[in-house]
Amino acid sequence: MNKKLSACITGLGMCVPPKILTNADLEKMVDTSDEWIAQRTGIKERHLVNGQTLSDLAGIAAEEALQGANLQGKDLDLIIVSTTTPDMQLPSASCLVQKKLGAKKAACFDLAAACTGFIYALSVANQFIISGAYKNILVIAAEVLSAITDWQDRNTCVLFGDGAGAVVLQPTTEKKGIISTYLAADGSFSDFLEVPAGGSRQPASIETVQQRQHFLKMKGNETFKVAVRMLEEAASKAVSLAGLNYKDVDCLIPHQANIRIIKATAKRIGLDENKVFVNVDKYGNMSSASTAVGLYEAVKQGKIKEGSIVVLTAFGSGFTWGACVIKW
Ligand code: ACO
Repeated sequence: MNKKLSACITGLGMCVPPKILTNADLEKMVDTSDEWIAQRTGIKERHLVNGQTLSDLAGIAAEEALQGANLQGKDLDLIIVSTTTPDMQLPSASCLVQKKLGAKKAACFDLAAACTGFIYALSVANQFIISGAYKNILVIAAEVLSAITDWQDRNTCVLFGDGAGAVVLQPTTEKKGIISTYLAADGSFSDFLEVPAGGSRQPASIETVQQRQHFLKMKGNETFKVAVRMLEEAASKAVSLAGLNYKDVDCLIPHQANIRIIKATAKRIGLDENKVFVNVDKYGNMSSASTAVGLYEAVKQGKIKEGSIVVLTAFGSGFTWGACVIKW
């Protein structure tokens, strides 16, 4: 009988655009202060595109992940791009990335699960690997949130940044890789965090543009309360599905929306803060790219080593939430 397959991450990549917008820069744009932003969110600066497209960021992150896995574009069987801000409505960002990589035999699709998208995409890729359907899968989480940010709205414009993270997944018969995933959603919260226009319900028109309906609207305070509960619930479910306890966890990578959410989640879980990865200060909230870039940086900084138990947990518009446990 064939040995049981697991999906193992064999390559990692990331890309943030070089342009940095600091809190001091934002003070000149809206009625805010470095003190308010740093205290209420933990964010000090964020990277924003300046001419680059989402597929540019995704392509750079993907090239690095492919190199790490010792693969070329032509070896890929599947490309999944998690994003809420593709270059355009059609074709998908994944097809544009396929073109950049020369990944001619890869099937391609985009996945929309907002900030939880990287975890949803890992879960989908995991199924294709453990079923034996595909061997070389590229998962990218990329976001250009600056394109849907209302730069006149101080409630939201201080929060977001642009960036991309990528991983290559391959099958292994060793006892490592993705151990469990947990996915959840509740559409009854759909109006807590939305971009009202630009879809088929309210196609772009002069009125929708004048009413600033193409920008992200968020009920921040209400979202905050649900986020803490769901990040903890998802992590607990995934850890339990993996047959583990929190004492086994070496590194928690929570969605990077707000340092207060991250700290409150760590407290609910009872996890030591030095096991909780934080980069929200440097990048702000990059939606689904946050957990992907977090994983990349935690590995590069030596916080994740061979054999480490890693938990990714995220929460976002929808609401969607989910978590993934990986043995490194
Ligand atoms: N600068 C100065 N003052 C501000 C700013 C700002 N940038 N933004 C809001 N304020 C003011 C408000 O107007 C309000 O003033 P008021 O009391 O006079 O009315 C006051 O600060 C407090 O506002 P709150 O909204 O209650 O502030 P809160 O502490 O909740 O922080 C924040 C707001 C940072 C948005 C927080 O609620 C948050 O992080 N929410 C969750 C975000 C999240 O998790 N999103 C999910 C994923 S995102 C995705 O899917 C793309």
